[in-house]
Amino acid sequence: MSHGTPIPRFRHPHLLRELRCHPTRVFLRVMETCGPIAQVSFGLKRLYILTDPELAYHVLRYEPCFPRPWSQVERAITALMGARVVTSFNGPLHHRRRQALVPAFTQTRVRSYAPTMVKYARAMCASWKDQQVLDLCEELTRLTLSIAFQVFLSTELLDEDLDVVAVTSAYADYLADRATRLWWVPFWLPTPLNLSARRARRALTRQVSRVVEQRLTSGAARDDVLDLVLAAHRKGVFDQQQVVAELVNLLTSFLPSTASIQATLVELLTEPGQVTYQRLLREAEQFTLDHPYTEQDHQHLASFRAAYQEVQRERPFVPALLRKARGPQTLPGDYDIPARSLVLVAIHALHHRAEAFSDPDTFCPERFVAAAPASPPQGGYLAFGAGVHTCLGNHYSELLGPLVLATLCRLVRFEVAPDQGPVPPEVLGSVLQRHPFKVQVQHRGLPGAAEGKPFVQTESLVSARKRGIYA
Ligand code: HEM
Repeated sequence: MSHGTPIPRFRHPHLLRELRCHPTRVFLRVMETCGPIAQVSFGLKRLYILTDPELAYHVLRYEPCFPRPWSQVERAITALMGARVVTSFNGPLHHRRRQALVPAFTQTRVRSYAPTMVKYARAMCASWKDQQVLDLCEELTRLTLSIAFQVFLSTELLDEDLDVVAVTSAYADYLADRATRLWWVPFWLPTPLNLSARRARRALTRQVSRVVEQRLTSGAARDDVLDLVLAAHRKGVFDQQQVVAELVNLLTSFLPSTASIQATLVELLTEPGQVTYQRLLREAEQFTLDHPYTEQDHQHLASFRAAYQEVQRERPFVPALLRKARGPQTLPGDYDIPARSLVLVAIHALHHRAEAFSDPDTFCPERFVAAAPASPPQGGYLAFGAGVHTCLGNHYSELLGPLVLATLCRLVRFEVAPDQGPVPPEVLGSVLQRHPFKVQVQHRGLPGAAEGKPFVQTESLVSARKRGIYA
């Protein structure tokens, strides 16, 4: 008999369906009706939902007591890639693999990638015609991946045999579906999603393997992310199949998030009555494009960083994280959690706590640029997670997002295209996930505009669909 603080039960007539279709609504409801922690039961399984910063931080910090469970997503990645990647491990094995990747993503190293980011963003702008209508989500995904191919693999993204937007979209759809399913769909079943994910895997693996093999044969040092991963391969941390799986996973499951956050940001900024966009357009004029990234550039990007931070507060790309209690655990506040229960950190709810963020449903980047911003408590802002599994690409993403956006804002102005309807609330309730977002581009005609070679243009998603790359 437990003597800890009682934990309220959360009941809902269609809980499973709601959790799958509108998880963020459930999290907010739990926070309103039950307080910091609530329990839900599915048969014999128990799930604890946390909406309190202290509890959330505690669970994410103490990995030995709350390891990451072998979830549907890890299972799906392993089934698809035929190898386990860093995200699917806990304990010493995770530590060893993560340490091998860390040097590629330190703050200093990431800043050295800035000129490549600016160069490609500029080239993409140069490839847009004035008044052209385009799908911003698709364009930004291509841009993000082209930068990554250069930074990670020192190679141009060649689209002769790969429509990168189509294949990464297929991969992302497959993972998003598995992330929200409670039952396992065997990978050998020829479902449309399995088939398009397999085609995507084949296309990406082929391209990445080609670069890996060339590098192994030539032995040439390029001082890129691949070099670091291959150094770990030589020390026996990864075998060759794991090298390819790790790179494909980094490219496909994490990078497009940055692109869709940028697209969402533009969507929010171009809403009628939004004043921040005008300010950002003015501030982008101070941003120079032609030299290595300096501390001064970093200061000029403050407002862009704030906007990027705010979009991830309001619509966190990862709306929840899952952990599993290894043994019986007691959380701060004397809440007893039985062994093997699942514990869900409801990031979306934490980001909507009125105690931490005034008027939490309003998109307001200014809250992160105030002279002395009142920082949320530890665990109050978890866009990139916390603890030993904290996002490995956080510095990368925090530079790439604002920097690309500032470059675009300096060179072009976006207006929502006349035929772009309202963007529906997303499956995960978070940022725009590859939903078409059509904008019209106007070149601003400021210095430094139409430079850089035209950006690599590929066939559209529609024609890729016709060719059956993407269901
Ligand atoms: C805005 C974009 C991104 C968001 C919101 C994001 C968010 C997250 C979150 C919340 C986690 C923690 C998962 C957990 O605790 O279970 C995570 C882990 C991770 N992220 Fe990101 N991420 C982003 C971009 C990236 C990028 C660009 C990369 C790589 C270049 C990356 C690589 C990783 C890796 C490897 C992990 C697993 C770390 C580990 O288990 O040790 N992420 N990410």
